[in-house]
Amino acid sequence: MTELLRLEEVQVVFERGWIRKRKGARAVSGVSMVIREGEIFALVGESGCGKTTLGRIALGLLRPTSGRVLYRGKDIWSADGKGLRPTGQMVHQDSYSALNPARTVYQTLAAPLRRYGVPRSKLKEEAEKLLEFVGIMPPKYFLNKYPYHLSGGMRQRLVFARSIIPKPRFIVTDEPVSMIDASLRLSILDLMLKLNCEFKIAFLYITHDLATARYLAQEGKIAVMYLGKIVEEGRMKEVLERPLHPYLRALLSAAPVPDPEIARKKKLLQLKEAEPPSAEAPPSGCGFHPRCPYAEGVCSREEPPLRDFGEGHRGACHLIEVLPPWRLM
Ligand SMILES: Nc1ncnc2c1ncn2[C@@H]1O[C@H](COP(=O)(O)OP(=O)(O)O)[C@@H](O)[C@H]1O
Ligand SMILES: [Mg+2]
Repeated sequence: MTELLRLEEVQVVFERGWIRKRKGARAVSGVSMVIREGEIFALVGESGCGKTTLGRIALGLLRPTSGRVLYRGKDIWSADGKGLRPTGQMVHQDSYSALNPARTVYQTLAAPLRRYGVPRSKLKEEAEKLLEFVGIMPPKYFLNKYPYHLSGGMRQRLVFARSIIPKPRFIVTDEPVSMIDASLRLSILDLMLKLNCEFKIAFLYITHDLATARYLAQEGKIAVMYLGKIVEEGRMKEVLERPLHPYLRALLSAAPVPDPEIARKKKLLQLKEAEPPSAEAPPSGCGFHPRCPYAEGVCSREEPPLRDFGEGHRGACHLIEVLPPWRLM
């Protein structure tokens, strides 16, 4: 698969206040990653670890403090890179704020359709086709409805319909199902799979939820983010089968499983502290060491590099070779 987007050693520092006495928060620190055409890439991590910031970087909505962002090999922040930004579309968790409440479903779609060259006489037909494609049925019934007439799931479908009008090669979805009723989540993830399959759109799926990441990106990749860094990365199947990093192991051991028999037997990998440290005052050495049940002296002194353990499965932990073999039970 050809390369679509490449981040190289990206850093983002948010300065705090205009008297720059306090050190800023390093939201993203030294992240490198590659997203290929048509690939589904899940970015998983807890709140505040820098996922949204990284998503905005990938789209070219935010300029990194340092590092490069390449779209099809071209630096999007170079002198002639302006036309490459944004590199794709964004879908947020809050579909209500993404839509103009004063616009009908038809108006929501017609304006961008016009902008992308659909003649006036064809607008209605094209809008109906889009609605049908994203599963808002029957389209005719919904054309004159307003966002507040629609359920959360329907609104998110409408946002997806609008997002594909510019024929993007890349969509960043930032917690797209976290505000949606659990019973409808899978159907929205299935819509993303349909867009991926039909139009070969690459997705960066941002979430704090391992279960939906696994469902969506089962044929794709996962990167686990912790305190502004990628601590583990690889093909989803391989990473979940053989998790390297204690943080991912802890997430996996805490993830609910449907079978109560297995759930009871499961061993919970206990963290030393429940709360993540702040990006403004990150710990020395490995950012995870204050919470890590395995941490040793070296972990508080030296920052572990992201090392390759074969076929692009990478992990950033000093102790990977000496950790107990992974098993869920
Ligand atoms: N515009 C901003 N100004 C200052 N700090 C920010 C800004 N956006 C995010 N941050 C800080 O950067 C860190 C990462 O935030 P974010 O990317 O939103 O994380 P996530 O999406 O994983 O919850 C947090 O510490 C957050 O407070
Ligand atoms: Mg976020």
